[in-house]
Order: sequence, then structure tokens, then C-alpha cells
Amino acid sequence: MNENIANTIRSKVDIVDIIGERIPLVARGKNFFGVCPFHDDTNPSMSVSREKQIYTCFSCHATGNVYTFLMNYEHMDFREVLKYLGDRVGIDTGSVHVTKKTTKYDKLYEAYNLTLKYYQNNLNSNIGKIAKKYLRERKITEELIKEFEIGLSLDSKDDLTKLLTSKEYDLVTLNRIGLSSDNHDIYNNRIMFPLYDINGRVVGFSGRIYDNSNQNKYLNTKETDIFKKGELLYHYHIAKEECRIAKSVIVMEGFMDVIRASSIGVKNTVALMGTALTKEQINLLKRLSKNIVLCLDGDDAGVKATLSIGNTLLEQGIEVKVISLPNPDDPDTYILNNGKSKFLNLLSSAENFSDYRMNQLRKNVNFKSDEELATYINKVLEETAKINDEIRREVILKKLAKEFDIGYNTLEMRINSLLKKEAKQEEVIIPKKSIVKKDKYTKAFEQIIYFMLNNDWIITKVEQERLIFPNEAMRSICNEIIYYYKKNGNINVADFYTYIQGKDNLEKVISDILADSYNETTNEEELNLYFNVIKEYSTKQEIKRLTNLMKKEIDPLEQAKIVEKIRKLRLGDN
Ligand code: UTP
Ligand code: MN
Repeated sequence: MNENIANTIRSKVDIVDIIGERIPLVARGKNFFGVCPFHDDTNPSMSVSREKQIYTCFSCHATGNVYTFLMNYEHMDFREVLKYLGDRVGIDTGSVHVTKKTTKYDKLYEAYNLTLKYYQNNLNSNIGKIAKKYLRERKITEELIKEFEIGLSLDSKDDLTKLLTSKEYDLVTLNRIGLSSDNHDIYNNRIMFPLYDINGRVVGFSGRIYDNSNQNKYLNTKETDIFKKGELLYHYHIAKEECRIAKSVIVMEGFMDVIRASSIGVKNTVALMGTALTKEQINLLKRLSKNIVLCLDGDDAGVKATLSIGNTLLEQGIEVKVISLPNPDDPDTYILNNGKSKFLNLLSSAENFSDYRMNQLRKNVNFKSDEELATYINKVLEETAKINDEIRREVILKKLAKEFDIGYNTLEMRINSLLKKEAKQEEVIIPKKSIVKKDKYTKAFEQIIYFMLNNDWIITKVEQERLIFPNEAMRSICNEIIYYYKKNGNINVADFYTYIQGKDNLEKVISDILADSYNETTNEEELNLYFNVIKEYSTKQEIKRLTNLMKKEIDPLEQAKIVEKIRKLRLGDN
């Protein structure tokens, strides 16, 4: 990797901008604070330093520079982040070579790629004629077939299994990764839609029947090492960029909806694929955009799902918007029947989830019955109490008062008592942080490293002292800093992070140090005190070693020599 380019690019972007575009940051003193996206939290435990160009979470100890932030937050690899930031500051990264990490799953991805090509081939050959006709009738154009890499599994028992076993895949592997069962193909005679992980790699398939056979409409890949349904959203890898441009993300139920929307140029979409929304998926959604729009099916199940997902997100303080389609349309059929501009109109008239929920409550209420009306108004007040916005609450109360001719004060009184109840329930219990107690040697070591990261002169000092640190990780981080400094003639934490990229044990040591509170600068006198603590430790270790050695020694003369050594060490005369 060309570190110089990486450092130049890094110096031209401001980490506060990059993180601030993704999570809200508030300035406090020298630093900026926000809710850390790398662990479950609602408190602003992440600090971002403009001066040092690094971020630090004091709760989960996630730390790093702009590269590590984007890699972890956007799930990009280093290459992609480099290109993304390079494009931003107008530096060409095309020639930068980054060695790709190999993973133990490479072989699985490869199997899925082979299978993808095989399915695509089937569809485009003579054998795929009937399937093509089905797709044509559904207005899935050749262009869409290509774009979404749609294919076809054959009406055969083991065509794919044979192909893959001939390419050095054994049956055990094929069973494990959900392509075969015993020695049979899992998918027979289905139109195959590849499913991608968040980085755009094919990790599974959904196969649709296209004749009137009496089987499940869709058959999906089982959970495997690389396919975890609850951790992905269909189309996420494309939506990543599109949502940034559109400044919103639209959530649909099925991938057919996403494909259809894409055909009219609406590409900031993801599909849930028939699952309840998981925590991981909520996190993925939040990463795509702050503005989440639900556009689920117009049938009863779709309304139910909209209410449930909307409530879940609202509890997390996210007010989504809702597009209601007429029953029983889904986005696919709606767009097919009504066209692009009608759908775009719907999009621009999306309503706030709390309004949607209120309107849903109205359905089937007999307003002529006093009892039903009272129940309705109470329900509305309960829902309104959950809205975390005074003005919105007041608007709703005023509307209610006017529509049903009820005194505003009566409504207000009721909502105030509901609000008190809510507040009680919401008293946050702050989990106790697991504070790992560090002994004085670790503390001294970490303080010295922190000094080194912030003061060139201290690096030189440490080198001259020939300090021996207590453990391997400490020694190597110290050596790396010294080496880095000699190579570059200076040090800054942000670039040092790029340098130790991928050296997991070193990243962890640095993170633990940065997430603690150490002094940034010092003087020579104080520095020596820290050195002495480390030396004291080394001496203790050496005495321990010699004592053990002496116990094993049988030659009295040798024993005496060791005793003398220990004595000298104790006197500090070494
Ligand atoms: P839908 O039944 O809404 O599918 O299921 P759809 O998008 O309208 O598909 P078409 O138009 O009938 O072809 C939504 C999602 O639920 C999952 C699929 O991922 C689908 O995209 N699903 C549905 C299954 O996994 N299995 C099924 O049998 C049905
Ligand atoms: Mn459909």
C-alpha cells in the first residue's frame, strides 16, 4: 500500500465532516461528541477530535482515524475508502496497490460466483425460453435481467451438484453452503435471484416458481457462514451510494419491488425479504439514511408490518415516513399499473408515521357511538404522548379538539398525565461500565505510549533508555512507534493508525490507551518517574528469573554468582 497517498488524502479531509455527515455531532470544548454507532447506545460516548483527526468511544473503546471509521461504518474495505476519499479531494487512487486479504470463506464466495454464472447461462440459453417468457410477461426486461443477474435453475436432479463436484467442491461443502442436499441440487426449475451481502458479494439465492406448480412461491438459501438473512438487506450495496444522493432510503417488502422501482430510476431502495426487522437491519437502515421511508404492500399484512416496524423505529427515536399503497398493490404492481409519475407523486406525499398510525386508528370507528369515539380519542392521546415533539403534540391536540368539539384543556390535562407515566417508564438505567483495573505497570506503559504518540522528543528518549516493556504487545507497539518515527521524521496518531492497519493486536492496545484518560505532554523529570516504574518492573522480573535459575543450579560456585547478580539488582546497580 502506498502510505504516502493515504496520508496525503487523510490530511485533506476533516474527520469531523466525514463522521458528522453520518451521525449528528455536537461541539463541546475542543472536541465533538456523538452517539457511537459501534455499540448499542443512546448517550454521546464518542468523541471526535479535529485537532488529532481521530475518534474515540469511551464506552466500547472503538477508536481510529477516518479510514477505520469508514471501513467499520460503511463496511467498505481499505481500497474502497481510499477511492471514496480520494475522489472527494480530487486525488487519483487508481494506481494504488492494496493487497487483498484472503478469508476462510473465499472458497464459498467462489462457489456462489460459479453458480451465479451457471444460472445466468441457463436462462440465456434455449432451455430458458419458458422462463424468459414468464419474465417478459412480468415486464422484467433484458436490461433488468442483466442488472439484477437473474438466472435459472434446471429441471434436473443434480446438474449443478455435478458441475461443482467436478470443480473440486466436495459434497459436504455443497451441503453446508446450501447448494446441494445429499447429492441433489436444492433448486429445481426456478427463476434464480441472487442475494447479496452488504458488500455486494453473492451469498445466496431466492428461487421463484414460474409455472403453476404447487410449491412455495420462493425458496431461499438456508442460513450459512456467509448468508445470514437477518444481517442483510436486499440491494444494500447499491443503495449505499444512491441513498446518499437521494438523502433517503425506501424500505420495501420484496426484491421484485426493488427491481421494479429500479426500472423507473428509484434506486435508493432496500427489501426486507419477508423477515421481521432485526436489530442488525435497523442499524443498516440507519447507516443508509436518517430519512427512512416505509413503502410496504397495501394489503392487511403490509399495514400490520408498517405499524410494527414504524413503532419499533419510533421507540428508538426515529420517525419514519410512510407511503400507503392501495390494497392489494405492492410497489411492483402499483408502478406497473400506474406508471412512474404516479409513484413519484406518492413518494413526495409520504406522511409521518405518527400521522399514519393515527389514521389507521380511525379505520372502522363508528363515530356516532359515544363510547367508540371516547375509546378512539383515548387511543390517539396515548399514541400522541409517545411523540417526542411538543409542537407536533399540540398540533394534534388542536385538530382533535376542533374536529370533535372537545375542550383543548381537557385533552391537554389527559395528555400531561400520560406524559408523566411515560417519563416514569423511561427512566434510563445506565449500565455500569466494566472497568478493567489496570496495574501500575500497565498504566505507566500506556502513559508512556500516549506521550510518544504526541511528542517526538519522548520517542527519542524512550529509544535511548532501552526500556524493556512487560509484554510482547507493549514491546511491539513501542518498536513500531520508534520505527515509524525514524522512517517519517515525525508522528501523528491519525497516520499511525493507517500504518498499523490490520495488525489487530496493535490496534487493540492503541484503542485501550486512547479510550483511557492520559496526559498529553510532560517534562523530563516526570517522564523519568514513569521510566522508573517500568525499570522497576523489569528488575522484578529479572530477579524472579534468577531466583528460579538458582534453585535449579547445583554447582555452589555458579549459585554464588547468581546470588551476587540478584544482590546487585536489588541495589539498583546493574
Ligand atoms: P411477496 O409475496 O410480497 O413477494 O413476498 P413479491 O415481491 O410480491 O413477489 P411476486 O411479485 O409474487 O413475485 C415478499 C418477500 O418475502 C419473501 C421473498 O423474499 C419476497 O421477496 N418470501 C415470500 C419468501 O421468502 N417466500 C415466499 O414463499 C414468499
Ligand atoms: Mn408482487
